[in-house]
Amino acid sequence: MAVDAVLGMLRCPVCAAALQRDGGTVGCPAGHRFDLARQGHLNLLRSAPPANADTAEMVAARLRFLDAGHYRPILDAVAGGIDPRTRTWVEPGAGPAWYLSRLLEAHPAAHGLAGDVSVAAARRAARAHPRIGAVVFDTWREWPVADASADLVLAIFAPRNVTEFARVLRPGGQVIVVTPNPDHLAELRAGYGLLDVPGDKSDRLADALADDFDADGRVEVRAELALSATEVGDLIAMGPNAFHRQGDPDVTPARTTLSVTVSCWRRGPVG
Ligand SMILES: C[S@@+](CC[C@H](N)C(=O)[O-])C[C@H]1O[C@@H](n2cnc3c(N)ncnc32)[C@H](O)[C@@H]1O
Ligand SMILES: [Zn+2]
Repeated sequence: MAVDAVLGMLRCPVCAAALQRDGGTVGCPAGHRFDLARQGHLNLLRSAPPANADTAEMVAARLRFLDAGHYRPILDAVAGGIDPRTRTWVEPGAGPAWYLSRLLEAHPAAHGLAGDVSVAAARRAARAHPRIGAVVFDTWREWPVADASADLVLAIFAPRNVTEFARVLRPGGQVIVVTPNPDHLAELRAGYGLLDVPGDKSDRLADALADDFDADGRVEVRAELALSATEVGDLIAMGPNAFHRQGDPDVTPARTTLSVTVSCWRRGPVG
């Protein structure tokens, strides 16, 4: 069971005690029990997923788009930032764990906890790699992850709960964040009237991280993408726009700009 690979990092979402697996159930000494899904993921959310959680269709579109390879430069930039000594990795908002599974290939001693609030995403993440444990949890609540249990937190186009980053990371642990720049996919957003996802201001991220983290390098990733009509459709369908457009948009091949920042941070000593 891939979830075994990350059990040592998990904690009970009710009482914060350590979790153990007993057959198809994971539980704590106080008797809080959570069923392992047939598909391999563990749901520690304790409530229904929010209505805007990614659907199976969105997750499938994301995987098709990522498999086409246009975001490979982002993967390479993240790979270049990872400290090879890290072993215990957490990615909240991992989606189907396309990045995490590829990053783990280069780090045979590491294992990754793929978190997401979407059950559909967790199902795909559970079978993405044998060293991935997929867990459903909400980034904006306390994570079911033990204090100082992680060496690396990844946040790739995903919500960032900086308080939880600091709590789960060991002193000296790493955070690697991928944020879109203001011009990321600008031509597509203009052309298709997509929801305007404003670029993350890097100073806002730095402000949020400043108390507990030291900046440890950053890379700007820029490329011109030539996308087929299918790829444009998948790019639209994999994001929040999927909730705001009825039916298949009438898409055509397009050129657009890939523009993101990959920034690395170090957890300072505690206290
Ligand atoms: C833009 S996608 C990025 C997924 C993945 N990191 C990637 O780049 O392929 C954002 C992901 O965050 C997840 N997400 C959104 N809100 C969340 C929350 N509150 N807690 C956990 N995951 C969340 C979504 O379900 C989605 O899978
Ligand atoms: Zn418990």
